Formats: sequence, C-alpha cells, structure tokens
Amino acid sequence: MRHFLSLKDFTKTELLEMIDLAQKIKAQTKKRQFVPYMEHQTLGMIFEKSSTRTRVSFETGIYQLGGVGLFLSSNDIQLGRGEPMKDTARVISRMVDMVMIRTFEQSKLEEFADYSKVPVINGLTDSYHPVQIMTDYLTILESGIDKPVVAYVGDGNNITHSWLMLSAILGFELRVATPNNYQCDPKIVQEALQLAKKTNATISFGSDPKEAVKGANVVTTDTWVSMGQEDEKEERIKAFKGYIVDEALMGLAEDNALFLHCLPAYRGYEVSEETFEKHADTIFAEAENRLHAQKGIMVWLDQHRAN
Ligand code: CP
Ligand code: NVA
Repeated sequence: MRHFLSLKDFTKTELLEMIDLAQKIKAQTKKRQFVPYMEHQTLGMIFEKSSTRTRVSFETGIYQLGGVGLFLSSNDIQLGRGEPMKDTARVISRMVDMVMIRTFEQSKLEEFADYSKVPVINGLTDSYHPVQIMTDYLTILESGIDKPVVAYVGDGNNITHSWLMLSAILGFELRVATPNNYQCDPKIVQEALQLAKKTNATISFGSDPKEAVKGANVVTTDTWVSMGQEDEKEERIKAFKGYIVDEALMGLAEDNALFLHCLPAYRGYEVSEETFEKHADTIFAEAENRLHAQKGIMVWLDQHRAN
C-alpha cells in the first residue's frame, strides 16, 4: 500500500502514471463518462485548516469515481477535542477506503499514515502541498509547454517545497526567488538537490524576482501569509515588498509565459489585479484541474493496494 504524503516518495515514472490517469479520466469526464473506478469506496477528508478547492475537488472527485466523500472538520470530530491522531487513524481507517488530510505539521500526517490501514493523501501541510503541484504540472502540460522553466517568486513555503520536489524528480528547471528571511526549509532543499542529481534538474535560489523570471515560461507565486501565520501578517507584508508579480515582472518572462496561482490570491500583494485578470483563464483551468489530477492520484493509489 502506498500513501501520497510527499512527491519525494515517488519515481518520475509513478508520478507520470498518475498524470496519465488524470488526463484519461478528465477526457472521460468531459464526455460525461463516469467510469466507476472506485465504486462504493468512501474517502474520509479530515480538515484542520480551511479549504475551498481541496474540499470541493476531493468530494466531487470521489463521487464521480463511484464513491462518496466524508467531510470531517476537526472542529466537529473528537480530534479537535484532543483525541490522538493515532487513535483517529485506527478508527477511521477501519471504516473508509482512503483518507485525505489537511493539517499543520507533516509529522501529524505521517503519524496518521503510520497507523492507517488505508492509503492517506496529503491535502496540504505546513511543509508540502503535493496534490496542488501535480495539478500545476497537468496544467503546464495542457498548455503545450514541454520543457518547463518555472520561476517561483515569494514565500519559501509548502507550495515552494512541492515545486522543489517535482522539479527534482521530473528534471525540469526551477528558479526560486524569496526574501532572505523567508527562504525554503534547508533540509527540504538538501533533499531536493540530492534527488535533482539523478535527473540533472537545474534548481536555483536567489532573492531577485527579476533574475528568476527572466526567460522563464512559467511564473508562479503564492500568498505571503499562509494558514497559521496570520499573526505575522504585518511583518510579512513589509518583508515581501518588491515581490509582487505584476506586468513589469511578467514582461521579463518569455512571450506568452503562463502565470499560475494555486489560490486563494491576494491582489495587490503577491500578484497585481492586472496580471491576475490577464491570466484568469489559466488560473481557473488550474483550479479545475485539482478535480482531475486528484482523481488520477486516487485511482493510482487504489490500483497499488496490496490485495
Ligand atoms: N489551493 C488550495 O489548496 O485551495 P484551498 O485552500 O481552497 O483548498
Ligand atoms: N501556502 C498556502 C497555500 C494555500 C492553498 C497556505 O498554506 O495557506
């Protein structure tokens, strides 16, 4: 049995198999063919943080695969009143067929997975957001770009860490520009650079958004204030001055470069209103792709269960 906790646990072949499945199931869904790949299965969805896209895409996704999703907010289940993660895992995984969790520390997700009888999917932690970055890759492929050169501008956070892993495993170029005090986790950087040796992925780090974006064919960013960092909002807004993705910055990228945003977006901070609206078709196609990419991931995990 495999869990989907971080991209680093998978080979390039495996990740591309998931993307292939996503594309195949997306094409079927667009023709209103709902193939019951996961008939009668239940997906437990535990949320310790807010969500719009992750909740709606997983719940709709499992339904379209012939199963059902259970939305379990930590405010409503005993986890929120102190029942241990490992007990929650041992109860829920005896009743459902797959679990998605959105939580804080990666170690909480790992603890759940250690005690779970069924595959567990990372629906965002403080360290990673792997289903989002698989979605972003699907969106890049659909745009016709076959040699991505991705520039990430902003906070060195869960989104950035998953970009590092994807770039390292698939072998494409990634340039990261963050303010000096908001760099990526050095341990995750080392792991990614280690993986990148096998694929010859070029991964570079700096603090100049212009350097990162120059000649890139994909530009992306994320909020400066992630969930759980609300108390740091004011100091972060000051520290990220100059890191907005706007038309001046996009002008340095390749002509027709894609702009991706995982959403929610904060206009006037990490992205200008003008740039956001100019790229709205891509951004909302990316949001829709959450539904399709995650169906590929769920079906792949289902197909790789020990019998
Ligand atoms: N991008 C993303 O994960 O959105 P939600 O927080 O709305 O799920
Ligand atoms: N970095 C953001 C991503 C939201 C989808 C957060 O963790 O809040």
